[in-house]
Amino acid sequence: MRVADIIAQKRDGGKLAADQIRFLVDGYVQGRIPDYQISSFLMAVYFRSMDDEETVVLTRAIIDSGIIMDFSRLEGPIIDKHSTGGVGDKTSLVIAPLVASCGVFVPMISGRGLGHTGGTLDKLESIPGFNANLSLKEFKEIVRRVKSALIGQTGDLAPADKKLYALRDVTATVESVPLIVASIISKKVAEGIHGLVLDVKAGSGAFMKTWEHARVLAQALVRTARLLGKKVTALITSMEEPLGHAVGNAVEVAEAVDVLKGAGPEDLKELSFTLAAEMLLLAGKARNFDDARHVLEQRIADGGALRKFCEIIAAQGGDPRAIDDGPLWARASHRYEIKSPRKGFIQSIKAEPIGKAAMLLGAGRETVDSKIDHTAAVWVCKKSGEEIGGNEVYCALEFNDDRRLQEAIALVEGAVVIGEAPPEPTKLILERIVEC
Ligand code: URA
Repeated sequence: MRVADIIAQKRDGGKLAADQIRFLVDGYVQGRIPDYQISSFLMAVYFRSMDDEETVVLTRAIIDSGIIMDFSRLEGPIIDKHSTGGVGDKTSLVIAPLVASCGVFVPMISGRGLGHTGGTLDKLESIPGFNANLSLKEFKEIVRRVKSALIGQTGDLAPADKKLYALRDVTATVESVPLIVASIISKKVAEGIHGLVLDVKAGSGAFMKTWEHARVLAQALVRTARLLGKKVTALITSMEEPLGHAVGNAVEVAEAVDVLKGAGPEDLKELSFTLAAEMLLLAGKARNFDDARHVLEQRIADGGALRKFCEIIAAQGGDPRAIDDGPLWARASHRYEIKSPRKGFIQSIKAEPIGKAAMLLGAGRETVDSKIDHTAAVWVCKKSGEEIGGNEVYCALEFNDDRRLQEAIALVEGAVVIGEAPPEPTKLILERIVEC
C-alpha cells in the first residue's frame, strides 16, 4: 500500500477500504507516516468527505490506537454527555452529580477551554484542591465508589485523536463532519460507556453557526455512535447567547451549585434537566421523559444531587466546603459595571463576544498555554426579553488585571442590543435526534 495512492483515491472522490484507513492511522501514530502526508489526506477528506462506513472505520482505528476503559465490573448503566461547547455552558457540573445521584455511572472525560468557550476542567479547578489530572486507575476507582468523576483527556485514550487534532488545527481541516465525528465519538467510546447524550450547539457562539449545519453534524454523530453499538440521543440547542448569567470559572461553578440547590437561571435549569432526563432514558431509569424529570426534581429537592457533587469534589481532593462557604470562593479584586443608556428591552446578547471578553479578562485561553484567572468573569445581569431601566446595569466585568479591560468593555457593549419593544421569544432546545 502506498500513502500517496490512498490520498489520490480520496482526492478524486473515491471510497477508502477499511485496511487503507487503518494503514494511515496506525502509520501516523507509530511515526511511519509524516505530518505532510496526513495533512494532505485530511484536506482530501475535508473536500470529499467520508460515508458512514468510512467514518466508522476511522473512528474505530482512532479508538484502537489506545486503551478502552473496562467498566465491566460495574453493575449498572454507564452514560456520558458530550457538548460541542459554548459560552457559559456549565451543564456538565450540574448533570454529572445529578444523574449519578439517580444511580447511573457517569465517567466524564472533559476538555479545557480555548478561545471564547470555557472548559469544564478549568471551572472545576477553581474549587480549592480539586484534581482533574487523575490516573485512569484512580478515575475508575472513584467512578466505581462515587458513581462519577470528571477528568481531563489522558494520553491512554484515543491517542491518535490528539495527534490528528493538533494537525487539523494548523491545516484548516477542523471543520469536516467525518473528522469531527471520529474525533468526538472515538474519545467517548474509549471511555467504556453504554450510552451517550450529545448536546450539539447551533448559533453564533457555537462551532456550528446554523441549525442546518448542526443537524448534519448531530445526525452523523448519532449514526456513527449507533453503528459502534452505543445508545445515543442528540439534542440541537441554541448557542446564540450565553447560558445562565455567569461566564468565567469560579462563578460558573457557583451558578451550577445554585441549580443543584433548586435555584439558578431558567435557561441553565431547562437545558441541564433536559439533557439529564435523556441520560436517564438511555440508562433505563425512567419510562418516559416526564417520569425522568420527576426523578431529577426529587434528587434536587431531597439534596441528593448536591450531596453527590460534594462527594465527587472530596473524592478528587477538593474541599467540598467550597460549595457552602462564601470565603472559599475568591472573587476578583475589581468590578466594572456596564449600564443601559436608555430604558427598553434586551433584544439579544451575542455569545461569542461575551466569551471573548471573559477570555480577555483572564477567564479563558487565547493559546493552549495561556494561564487562567479563575476569578475573572463576565456577568450577564439581564437576559434577552428582560425589561431594563435607563442607567441600569446589564453586564458586569470582574477582573484582577485591567490590561485588556477596554477591549473587553467594547466587546460586551457591542454584544448587547437594547430595543423599545419586547423581542420575539426564542427556543433553547431546537431539535431532538434519535433516528436518522
Ligand atoms: N471537539 C472534538 O473533540 N473534536 C473535534 O474535532 C471538534 C470538536
